[in-house]
Amino acid sequence: MESETRYIGGWSFQPNRFFFSYPVIPAESHPPSKMKASLMLLLAPLVSAAPTVEHRQASQSIDALFKAKGKEFYGTATDQGRLQAGRNAAIIEANFGQVTPENSMKWESLNPRQGQYNWGQADYLVNWATERNKTIRGHTFVWHSQLAGWVNQINNRDQLTRVIQEHIRTVGGRYKGKIYHWDVINEMFNEDGSLRNSVFSRVLGESFVKIAFDAARETDPSAKLYINDYNLDQPNYAKVTRGMVANVNKWLSQGIPIDGIGTQGHLQSGQGNGLAQTIKVLAATSVKEVAVTELDIQNNNSNDYVAVTRGCLEEPKCRAITVWGVRDQDSWRPQGNPLLFDSNYNAKANYNAIVQLLSQ
Ligand code: G3I
Repeated sequence: MESETRYIGGWSFQPNRFFFSYPVIPAESHPPSKMKASLMLLLAPLVSAAPTVEHRQASQSIDALFKAKGKEFYGTATDQGRLQAGRNAAIIEANFGQVTPENSMKWESLNPRQGQYNWGQADYLVNWATERNKTIRGHTFVWHSQLAGWVNQINNRDQLTRVIQEHIRTVGGRYKGKIYHWDVINEMFNEDGSLRNSVFSRVLGESFVKIAFDAARETDPSAKLYINDYNLDQPNYAKVTRGMVANVNKWLSQGIPIDGIGTQGHLQSGQGNGLAQTIKVLAATSVKEVAVTELDIQNNNSNDYVAVTRGCLEEPKCRAITVWGVRDQDSWRPQGNPLLFDSNYNAKANYNAIVQLLSQ
């Protein structure tokens, strides 16, 4: 992989090989000490000013290329632990424009006991992203999984309504104005399109949808509010047609403030085209926008990643793509190497295939 040359204030340097390391003046021809000292003095202010540039591990940023095509971001999932390990932070900083907290903003992580909040990891991610102008997708307010045990015990409508509203006001309020998308509700449908059995649907029926979205809109009017689910990647699949499409159109007609539909995109090889077609079906609802929110493709051969990216490119309402992690071995399902960077943090053929598509 060609490491590129960049210019800062007329000085040239190559990643990991600062000009300062004398590429022009071979060390052996000058007594290093005196010459080195005077050069260090001469260059010190410049070096401290020059931003440190980590090795980007990829030829070009798919985020920059995707934005150049009029889309909003190409992002990835991460969290404090990953950002402080290996080359994740450098790769995300160089190649992705958005981050989703993989686990730190889930109810169980943030609010494991009533009245007690653990903000550390979520704050870390928000600060890391904000300092680097990375867009943030909030994930997720209301989900049956990784849900704090005390919430699962509630069986009173009014109490559960208050608890949902308080959670969204507390979490959404803390990060108000910093979160671009919120997954307000995650994975509420069964495969046949009916409501999934959860404490939310058991106690409140489908009214928890209005309760959650109204609370989110009231808490942070600047955030785009998403309903997110998986297996939304075959156009005629019941979860898509009878579940997401039929209900979202109904709820929008009732004035429930759903801005976007998120299709997670946890795919197997060969399913890329199915997702590309389903993006169009989801976009055909009355919703303002759609996004691919958790893309990973097991045993992919690049064509699937290209098909999904092209599918989003071709659908005006499809605004963004997020992959669910950086490198294969850190994936929640590492089998079949589902991501865009290998275990040595090198960009894989599927990453470069996306670059090629977006460079046309
Ligand atoms: O934090 C504990 C740690 O203290 C403990 O030592 C360790 C060993 O058990 O577990 C750690 O918790 C794990 C957590 O990830 C943080 O790493 C949980 O066991 C593990 O189940 C959890 O997995 C997450 C999974 O959601 C849980 O459902 C994955 O990282 C995360 O990628 C995955 O993401 C979901 C999306 O939120 C929603 N859509 C599907 C997607 C994949 O399942």
